[in-house]
Amino acid sequence: MKKSITVINGDGVGAEVTQQSIKVLDAVAAHFNHRFNYTYCSMGVTAINETGNTLPDKTIESCLDTDAILLGTIANAQYNNGIATKKNSEHGLLRLRKVLGLFANIRPVITYPSLHHLSPLKNKIIEDVDLIIFRELTGGIYFGEKQTDNGQTWASDTCIYSKEEVERIAHLAFSSAQQRRKKLTLVDKANVLETSRLWRKVVKKVALQYQDVQLNFLLADTAARQLLVNPKQFDVILTENLLGDILNDEASAITGSLGLLPSASVSNSNALFAPVHGSYPLASGKDIANPVGSILSAAMMLEYFNLKEEAQLVRDAVQWTIDSLFVSKDIDPINFYFTSTIGELISEYIGGRISGRVNKENIELRKSTII
Ligand code: IPM
Ligand code: MN
Repeated sequence: MKKSITVINGDGVGAEVTQQSIKVLDAVAAHFNHRFNYTYCSMGVTAINETGNTLPDKTIESCLDTDAILLGTIANAQYNNGIATKKNSEHGLLRLRKVLGLFANIRPVITYPSLHHLSPLKNKIIEDVDLIIFRELTGGIYFGEKQTDNGQTWASDTCIYSKEEVERIAHLAFSSAQQRRKKLTLVDKANVLETSRLWRKVVKKVALQYQDVQLNFLLADTAARQLLVNPKQFDVILTENLLGDILNDEASAITGSLGLLPSASVSNSNALFAPVHGSYPLASGKDIANPVGSILSAAMMLEYFNLKEEAQLVRDAVQWTIDSLFVSKDIDPINFYFTSTIGELISEYIGGRISGRVNKENIELRKSTII
């Protein structure tokens, strides 16, 4: 199979973690005889410094003309403390979502038994958590009309949704539930918001086409509490843009391992894959960031290409590094492995070059070909 991939490193540790995903994709290509062609584009601080524009037209063109996009991390405090102005990275990300029509953000959250101790929650609460959040990404209050008298005495943001916007993401979420434990929870504020009441009505109607999926409704405040009290109850969560933004971060915290979590943002014709974590400027250039969030995002990309066996092999390789405690500094601050070493180990596993006993001592010295 031949695929073109637009790669955007973005800010902070983005380049370091993305490089590991490229290694992994190359290992997959070599093992399964595929061809992945990469086009590198800029966005974020680098783009601002080079062109004065956080999202250059060239980047948009490449994204529109590619099979998938692999994004590193976007966010910088350098411009305006991370507040979305036209000059900063966040603004570029929002624009990219809108221009490409990436209407659904998909974030799976699973916990790893060997990493339970990292969670702020008790083991018995988080064991076997396996949920996925479908967050609407191009509508709602993020993109509704904004008004203000120059920020002097008043400001308003409009939350607006159409039936079509709800329907298209609802179909994706229901299809996903059908492949999973067949439970979908719509999270909203239907006790207060008109838009939530529209969501309920539309989702109930879509549900008629997915009779095998059990549909529940949960108010967002209750959902926020239930994610902490009993996250195991959730299978697929479907929600609108702003609520999804908040619940996504909460859900990622329960695992205690933000660095491991991947995401996909899809449109009808394209998709963007990126780790959930931020740009982590303090770690930038130190080879200590966790590459797994990006690598598992690359696995989601393979799944999107319908390369299921390939995606599973990447996930198996990641699982092997975690089980073997080849983990980065965020997971084990004392006995940690470097970003590049973890990327190499995962690639070696995919290439079938990990066998028998692994010489940990040499890997600790970063000699990654010493298996
Ligand atoms: C996210 C981020 C963005 C959002 C920011 C960077 C604009 O928090 O992807 O979750 O709010 O959507
Ligand atoms: Mn967010």
